[in-house]
Amino acid sequence: MEQYIIALDEGTTSCRAVAFNREGCTVAMRSRQFRQIYPQSGWVEHDAMEIWNAQLNALKELIRDLDLSPAQIAAIGIADQRETVVLWDKHTGKPVYNAIVWQCRRTAPLCDDLKQSGITEVVHKKTGLVIDAYFSATKIRWIMDNIPGVKEAAANGNILAGTIDTWLLWNLTGGKAHATDYSNASRTMLYNINELCWDEDILNMLDIPQAILPEVKPSSCTFGYTDPSILGASIPIAGIAGDQQAALFGQLCLQPGMIKNTYGTGCFILMNTGDKPIYSSNNLLTTIAWGIDGKVEYALEGSVFSAGASVQWLRDGLKIIDNAAQSQQYAEAVADNGGVYVVPAFTGLGAPYWDMYARGLIIGISRGTQRQHIVRATLESIAYQTMDILDTMQRDATLPFKNLRVDGGACANDFLMQFQADILGIEVERPPIVETTALGAAYLAGLEVGYWNKDALNAVWIPSKVFKPQMSDEQRFQLSQRWHEAVKRALSWAR
Ligand code: G3P
Repeated sequence: MEQYIIALDEGTTSCRAVAFNREGCTVAMRSRQFRQIYPQSGWVEHDAMEIWNAQLNALKELIRDLDLSPAQIAAIGIADQRETVVLWDKHTGKPVYNAIVWQCRRTAPLCDDLKQSGITEVVHKKTGLVIDAYFSATKIRWIMDNIPGVKEAAANGNILAGTIDTWLLWNLTGGKAHATDYSNASRTMLYNINELCWDEDILNMLDIPQAILPEVKPSSCTFGYTDPSILGASIPIAGIAGDQQAALFGQLCLQPGMIKNTYGTGCFILMNTGDKPIYSSNNLLTTIAWGIDGKVEYALEGSVFSAGASVQWLRDGLKIIDNAAQSQQYAEAVADNGGVYVVPAFTGLGAPYWDMYARGLIIGISRGTQRQHIVRATLESIAYQTMDILDTMQRDATLPFKNLRVDGGACANDFLMQFQADILGIEVERPPIVETTALGAAYLAGLEVGYWNKDALNAVWIPSKVFKPQMSDEQRFQLSQRWHEAVKRALSWAR
């Protein structure tokens, strides 16, 4: 009887259930989308009940289609969109309000107040994060302040809170486990990443009772068992990580200095920094990568705001391509960028520029400029922005890196991957399994139940394609210089 590990990959727009076999290959995947709720400009919510149902339906469909008996599921792992937070009634299991999503900006004024009060440095040292509406802390505060009765119910011990991993775990276990893992806790802005505990000072500052928060456990451990009423048996839930950290694990970036980049709407770039947190002088985030084998490991994280989003803009805004795949064909149809640079600062620029007032530009257009040049320059901008973050990481971490492991939709674009290798001057490795987020959660669960062992996993990682840098140092220098000149012109534009 062949056994499998099932990973639940609960992302920002869909819930997936993926079955992996012992070779670490995807056997089957089922998914469900759920609604994005935008009650006001800048606000983003999800219906937590809808997420739970979507995740459960994807899981049940997978089990049914593969005709799996419960005994064939060795364990379940969970990866989740991070920071998004839900509060629910401990007795009824009903959310008291929609989940407030990581993208939601409603608590920006509260974050401004916190910054004004001079606690930026303290929060950074304790949590590794910058004070921002992105993280869960102020979202919890908002729900307690704005939904009638929640503050009192929380004070009376009737409310539970958690990121989406915790919400799924609680439901899967029939309300028996209220827990999360180190990586998710480290994204709440409430967790002390040095002392490995909910931080009393920050909880007091935000007036959040610790009793509503989940227990924090290693990422690879038995969090609980599925309630028999759900899948007909008790199956261990043995791995949990935030999706970006899960992808770092799925890419087997297990040694300090190893980096992965997920090319999605934006890019999430994480570098393993080993067993000590490294604090950035350039506003990169310091975060917990995972807890495993009795230790906690850390990562530096930087994100590019517009990656796939700029290809969508070519398709839906400018309408100069019909689909994302065509961007490669157009980029390859011209010998070079023709002197054109696109800075896709649609919503400002992140690390290392941190300029909310930067706006996009296209510069270097001449009479000979064709749409292919603009498409090419847009793809190149994704690679340049990644380069800027990697340069910053290298300065902050002083760790040499040898290569970049890639995943996410746009890593299928060979032109972009080759240009990425060229502009970084290092090899870019694309794995055969691009479901690396789900794979990471599966690995964490499978390691806990002895389905895999870590040494065997390392041997499994063979890239399906390696992009080797072919550009001369001189050309790399010239192109990067021109890119930085273009960025300078985009900065502060909307101030
Ligand atoms: O921090 C947010 C991130 O975890 C969301 O990732 O893949 O769900 O968009 P994704």
